[in-house]
Amino acid sequence: MLHNNMRTIIISFNFFILLFTNTFAKGEGIVIHNNLQAIILAAEKSTRFNTGTSKLLAPLCGQAVVVYPARLFHELGVEVTVVTGHQKEDIESALNAQIESGIQYVHQAEQRGTGHALLCTKDMWNKEHIIIMNGDMPLVSPEIITKLYTMHIENNAAISFVIAPNDDPSFASYGRIVQDGSSIKIVEASEFRGLPIPQDYPVNAGVYLITKDFLVNYCNALQHNNAKNEFYITDLIGIANEADKNVCTLTASCDDIRGINTLQELVTAEQIKRTQLLNNFMKAGVRFMMPETNVIDLDVTIGRGTVIGAGVHLLGKTKIGEQCTIHPYTILDTAILEDNVTVHPHSVVSHSIIHAHAHIGPYAHLHLESDIGKHAYVGNFVEVKKSSLGVGTKAKHLTYLGDAIIGSRVNIGAGTIICNHDGKRKHTTTIKDNAYIGSNSTLIAPITIEENAYTAAGSTINKNVPASALAIGRALQVIKEGYAHKLRGTQPATPVTHTKPATKAPEDV
Ligand code: UD1
Ligand code: CA
Repeated sequence: MLHNNMRTIIISFNFFILLFTNTFAKGEGIVIHNNLQAIILAAEKSTRFNTGTSKLLAPLCGQAVVVYPARLFHELGVEVTVVTGHQKEDIESALNAQIESGIQYVHQAEQRGTGHALLCTKDMWNKEHIIIMNGDMPLVSPEIITKLYTMHIENNAAISFVIAPNDDPSFASYGRIVQDGSSIKIVEASEFRGLPIPQDYPVNAGVYLITKDFLVNYCNALQHNNAKNEFYITDLIGIANEADKNVCTLTASCDDIRGINTLQELVTAEQIKRTQLLNNFMKAGVRFMMPETNVIDLDVTIGRGTVIGAGVHLLGKTKIGEQCTIHPYTILDTAILEDNVTVHPHSVVSHSIIHAHAHIGPYAHLHLESDIGKHAYVGNFVEVKKSSLGVGTKAKHLTYLGDAIIGSRVNIGAGTIICNHDGKRKHTTTIKDNAYIGSNSTLIAPITIEENAYTAAGSTINKNVPASALAIGRALQVIKEGYAHKLRGTQPATPVTHTKPATKAPEDV
């Protein structure tokens, strides 16, 4: 039913001017307001997602979908309450892992719609203005929130909410903004009940800023006599309008307000977020050889002048310094690289630090808090686990270094294996500065190779090696002249002279 005295104010995002900045306190560039609280709706099963796990837990650029809105408000200094229900424990622990302090939770045992989720939070309403947001919106920017808030205050609105042009066919299930003169309401797609759903009407984003007074006085007007037998939060718009309250809309772009209901929508949103991240890095002087092939997580940082090759994945809290080169198909997961590091193709580095000017790979695997010194070289088919290598140390070929503390300028020969595990426990190997580990050495931990010591190629070393000593631990070589003829049953062309078995000189390592 239309109401003649309705005062609907439609304000375009593009033309909006921030007039009430004095109501905000600014700290480190973040807008904070004390009179606002946020409620995030995150209780519903994710039926359309169809993976068996809540869409809100799906990683998007490495961060669970539900963490985006919570972090958005937390960083704006706004108190956050999250409504949880389906997979409650997992959602709450994903949030608590990312946001250290202050999230409050309300349990919605039975999911009876977005309006019902809001009603479940009634006891938490303690600020003059309450912003409610769907938990499945990872792309909303702080600017949208601050503009919505400022517009809401300026117009003394009961409800202000975000809308977007209906440009994308994937918005078919969204609520439509239906206006007639000064009346405004949201009609859910399901409520058109067989009638054509208007494609030219703007869509409802799922972000509502509502004064507490209005909520307290009118929340009981929400009904569930609709197609889904649910309480729709969106009905509050029509209720406010009919009650002659101010209703404001803020127009945002489609991409900013995308909700995630399906796996396709998750991929679309992730592509948008990733493109934003890549563009920011390019502005900051990072060269991507084939950006369309890179995977990059939200909390990654990269220094200027660094080059990222095709197919590189930068995950977790990876931090890359300046002037580094990360060659194709490398995966860095929570890796810290100082300046001028080169990682050659097909390497995997996780939870490890690589100091300046070091070279890694190709085909190297560094993990579990490994620490590679300045100018060190970890070459092809080398695995380094929970080990540190000092300045200029080299392990260039086919090697396993586990639980080792290795000093500076050490040479680890090809095929060296550290036997760190005795079947029950792991032990430490210490190799001190300038030691030289001959190729194909087997070092049985616990063991210490002192400074400047050598191990002979092919040795199995199970006793400590003193400083500047040579350790040989291998069978002596025996030569049996002409023995091949005996094995083959052939005759030698010339008579065989039998000699005594020869041994190699010990210095021949
Ligand atoms: C909702 C809006 C629609 C809008 C769209 C934007 C309603 C009725 N419709 O539809 O107008 O265009 O968002 O993306 O609000 N939730 C609960 N408890 C419930 C039901 C939902 O916590 O009982 C949570 C969900 O976990 C989700 C959010 O509310 O995070 C929105 O629910 P969803 O089912 O995604 O709503 P849409 O159908 O997308
Ligand atoms: Ca949704």
